[in-house]
Amino acid sequence: MDNRPVGIFDSGVGGLSAVKAMLKAAPNESIIYFGDTARVPYGNRSRNEITCLSMQDVNFLRIFNLKTILIACNTITANCIDSLRAANQDIPIIGVVESAASAAAEATRNKKIGVIATQATVESGIYKQKLEDVLPGVKVFEQKCPKFVPLIESGHISPDDPKLIPVVEEYCRGLKEQMVDVVILGCTHYPLIQEAVRNYMGSDVILIDSGGESVKAVLEELSENNQKAAPLVKGNDKYFCSGDVGKFGTVANMFLQKNIQPYASEINIERF
Ligand code: DGL
Repeated sequence: MDNRPVGIFDSGVGGLSAVKAMLKAAPNESIIYFGDTARVPYGNRSRNEITCLSMQDVNFLRIFNLKTILIACNTITANCIDSLRAANQDIPIIGVVESAASAAAEATRNKKIGVIATQATVESGIYKQKLEDVLPGVKVFEQKCPKFVPLIESGHISPDDPKLIPVVEEYCRGLKEQMVDVVILGCTHYPLIQEAVRNYMGSDVILIDSGGESVKAVLEELSENNQKAAPLVKGNDKYFCSGDVGKFGTVANMFLQKNIQPYASEINIERF
């Protein structure tokens, strides 16, 4: 047993999709969350910039005594998980891409998989590579979606949102035409707009939540290392962001359906 918290971070509110999965699957695990909402989006930055920013994110998380860190961000996982691990060899760091690729490979029937993700994730080529490794003969259709993260960060997440619907159509049209039967939500922000994507793609298409899948990987690893938290010991989760905490809290409450505001604080990430 290990009752220390799990650190989860993202460039913004997207990693809350992993938090949601963790609260459901392992409600007794304590969470320290950081969202870099002052510097989001990361998805249109260079690898070097993404590495520098996420090093600071991890430095901040490391002021807490954590048992493991989940990079709840595809962009960071795709571009710099190795650098983060090299700089933090004394703590396990788990990414989101591998578990999402495996879940998609298992779910597809026609071997046609769509990936919607940020520019930096698509350009890294990581999903295509991982999918081809686990499922020879797979056809991967990738779509960069730069307009999604700004919309989500500003709260446009309802499936009826008139600003969101045309953007979903714009990005998903090509995948629908290719008749993919699985779409990887290859950015942890996208589960927040999952309903809008499902409405457009149709209920036969399976959506893979990269944040949610990664939580299964974290829990498996904790279990293998006998590091799960004891039942009934949960401390308060803590949420931190680098931008406006009111705005962060509003989106978080909407998505998690839980008032996290009393546990949320704003920090200056540049100090780390
Ligand atoms: N949530 C992040 C991801 O999974 C990235 C969003 C961004 O900062 O562009 O890729």
